[in-house]
Amino acid sequence: MRTRTICLLVGVIAVLLLGGSRVMSQSVTTTFVARDPGVRCSDLGAGGPITGLTSDQTGFFDAGKDEFLEPENAADGLGPRFNLNSCAGCHTQPATGGTSPAPFLGPGCTPADNPQVAMATLRGANNVVPPFITADGPIREARFKLNADGTRDGGVHALYVISGRDDAPGCAILQEDFQAQLKKNNVIFRIPTPTFGAGLIEQIPDAVIVANQGANASAKSALGITGHPNRNGNDGTIARFGWKAQNKSLLLFSGEAYNVEMGITNELFQTERDETASCQFATVPNNVTATNLATGVETISGIEKFAFFMRFLAPPTPSATVPGGANSISHGLQVFQSVGCALCHTPTLQTGNSTVAALANQNVKLFSDLLVHKMGSGLTDNVIQGQAGGDEFRTAPLWGAGQRVFFLHDGRATNLLAAIQAHKSAGSEASAVVDGFNRLSEPNKQDVLNFLRAL
Ligand code: HEC
Ligand code: HEC
Repeated sequence: MRTRTICLLVGVIAVLLLGGSRVMSQSVTTTFVARDPGVRCSDLGAGGPITGLTSDQTGFFDAGKDEFLEPENAADGLGPRFNLNSCAGCHTQPATGGTSPAPFLGPGCTPADNPQVAMATLRGANNVVPPFITADGPIREARFKLNADGTRDGGVHALYVISGRDDAPGCAILQEDFQAQLKKNNVIFRIPTPTFGAGLIEQIPDAVIVANQGANASAKSALGITGHPNRNGNDGTIARFGWKAQNKSLLLFSGEAYNVEMGITNELFQTERDETASCQFATVPNNVTATNLATGVETISGIEKFAFFMRFLAPPTPSATVPGGANSISHGLQVFQSVGCALCHTPTLQTGNSTVAALANQNVKLFSDLLVHKMGSGLTDNVIQGQAGGDEFRTAPLWGAGQRVFFLHDGRATNLLAAIQAHKSAGSEASAVVDGFNRLSEPNKQDVLNFLRAL
């Protein structure tokens, strides 16, 4: 009883003191609170080819870009189940090759609605737009955690079917019942990752990733940071593309995306995901090498074209001055490093020797270690991919973050501060670093945010 009274008294006195000091300080200075400056729409610097390509290589980049932009129809093999009808539809902000667009961007950016809304009913289709797809929300791919019998699923379930479209007469397969799966809390989401500079990421030798994993060992262990590569189960080398670093190469990702996102079978994925005979309007596999044509760019298949486009796509160009000015941005990088963000978001890794001179022995300023880390109960999606566990994700490369609208694997954040706070939850390797970030002065936090939006 007595202790409780004392506690109460102490509490009252503390409130009085704190309240008093707040009133006093407010009369002298206004409190500065760090804010995300928002999507950078100036100095676009994205979407072009990497410098140093030969004219032949530029020809492959251009042909690849055309293919990447092209909307496909049932006669090209689209569907029967699909998420969208072109690569560029999902990879578009701030330029072709990027990620989800948004309708609320300022001058200098190209605002656009989520194309998955209009896609539901294109050409007479009668798909229902699932509730997690909205005009001003991120493009999303859906995966189911478990099968009906309780075993693991983890695979992509396409949003739409071609049934009802004027180019798919006689096809009558039904759309997945997302409402029922949502009710069972069985759906997780992934947003598109940008592909700028992807050719450089592809050329980083495994030895460089492993050496970087071993660097700064004492600083990492003091903060509880470990992480490991997601090694390919067959050849044992390090996979690096996708939110869980689940895919080895751009060609493999292209083959899989053509099949999974668009339903177009190809030389890497030869059989249809849904083989309903009345819903096939092209021979299988739908897109292959044109062995009857003459020149290189004419003969190569769609997936090779996509891979060349992304391989030769230049990395994002950071701004030296926007937002906040050069001093704030360079100081922000220092704080980012001293607080421990850079222990996962490694500023630079080097490529090795490459048959493409423009990709050989380059500094890749990706801000990632290409390892997967445990990100805790708050971010877990309970999907296992290769050696990446349910709560493990690839350190998201931060180059281009300044021009991104949606953050984190499911696009839950549109604000950098929210994305940073989401790094902290039970079991996350990043929690101690977030605590360090939270202890920074507000002007130092602002410098970190300005640095990130300059990327
Ligand atoms: C419906 C939207 C959608 C379409 C269409 C789409 N993608 Fe993607 N893309 C995604 C999503 C979502 C991810 C992240 C997937 C994951 O990691 O689980 C992704 C990731 C990627 C990546 C990995 C980049 C990295 O560094 O992680 C590549 C490469 C890629 N896509 C290429 C393509 C190509 C090529 C096409 C066309 C054949 C295509 N995508 C079509 C949504 C899409
Ligand atoms: C333990 C490793 C680790 C540390 C430390 C860490 N991050 Fe991350 N970061 C990640 C991973 C993994 C993701 C992807 C998580 C997801 O999508 O679920 C990520 C995502 C992000 C994103 C979103 C990028 C995107 O593509 O959506 C931002 C921004 C970011 N981190 C900034 C920071 C900042 C700033 C710090 C320091 C305060 C920091 N991170 C510390 C591993 C880390």
